[in-house]
Amino acid sequence: MTSKTPSLVMLISGRGSNMEAFIRAIAAGTLDARIVAVISNVADAPGLDLARRADLPASVLSHQDYPDRASFDAALGDAVAAHQPDLVILAGFMRILTPAFVDRFAGRLLNIHPSLLPKYPGLHTHQRAIDAGDAEAGATVHYVTSELDGGPAIMQVRLPIQPNDTADTLAQRLLPLEHQLYPAAAKLHLSGKLTLVDGRLEFDGESMPPTGLEWRPQ
Ligand code: GRF
Repeated sequence: MTSKTPSLVMLISGRGSNMEAFIRAIAAGTLDARIVAVISNVADAPGLDLARRADLPASVLSHQDYPDRASFDAALGDAVAAHQPDLVILAGFMRILTPAFVDRFAGRLLNIHPSLLPKYPGLHTHQRAIDAGDAEAGATVHYVTSELDGGPAIMQVRLPIQPNDTADTLAQRLLPLEHQLYPAAAKLHLSGKLTLVDGRLEFDGESMPPTGLEWRPQ
């Protein structure tokens, strides 16, 4: 690892298993990056302990200490920008970010969403897929824009829905796939081969499907 190794700031609110997947991918050498900060907006997020056990600088910036969304996002933006990260990773960060924050990190802010976007932005994605009688669920890594779960998709993984699936069993089966998908999508971004042209992604100069590249479990 050198000072040129791409730097990541991770934003979390809870369990932190996607953050842990990045820690593992970096340790395994499958992702050439370094996590320079982990910031949680929730003081007792279990992910903070995971980060500290991995010797990562972890801190809390509670939205409850700010009078409104704009002032919290300004402080969060300053905390992130202080690290001049190559990439900001939303890893189960459960706050909607203001356009001011999103614009500040445009093109280097990623999120993972547990649905086959553009289907089911927002909450309760698995229940909505089951209720709609869908054959597949999945997860999508996308650039964050000010449209909720609406930014350009980088990569997607699909998972067949079984007849007796519940939202919980789907989430359980999907999580290990998310853990492989997210570092792989970050790697694609860091390759420098993705470009945004008129709001649509190109990979190596070729336009990508609007749902991103399909990622298959390895
Ligand atoms: C994941 O299911 C992710 O898709 C969603 O929030 C969950 C975060 O889990 N955005 P974790 O905190 O990374 O374990």
